[in-house]
Amino acid sequence: MIGRLNHLAIAVSDIAKASKVYRDTLGAEVSAKVAQPDHGVSTVFISLPNTKIELLEPLGVDSPIAKFLERNPDGGIHHVCYEVPDIRIARDKLKALGARVLGDGEPKIGAHGRPVLFLHPKDFCGTLVELEQA
Ligand code: CO
Repeated sequence: MIGRLNHLAIAVSDIAKASKVYRDTLGAEVSAKVAQPDHGVSTVFISLPNTKIELLEPLGVDSPIAKFLERNPDGGIHHVCYEVPDIRIARDKLKALGARVLGDGEPKIGAHGRPVLFLHPKDFCGTLVELEQA
């Protein structure tokens, strides 16, 4: 069912510093920072030949990544994003198999303008999984 790895997301407390590490130390192509107020984060995308890295920085008072950064003050891998051809078909199939979809279960528009959903880490090997409609 799942297709390509769309991106791997890393939560950080200082996205400018993290961008500098990826641009200047690792020599990657790094986008500008974009605020995503609907998701409570700011994002930067790093383009790699075979996938992307999404840097996430908290935005606003109750950012969904605030607790994660309390536990991981140096930052850390936050989620993986897999592409699916149809997000509602994927959701319904996963729910029928007992997987928990976070939030109200309805896809939201993600950082790339495409519908996304998040799946409970306890159902997926301890990893928060984002699905994005390809
Ligand atoms: Co993501």
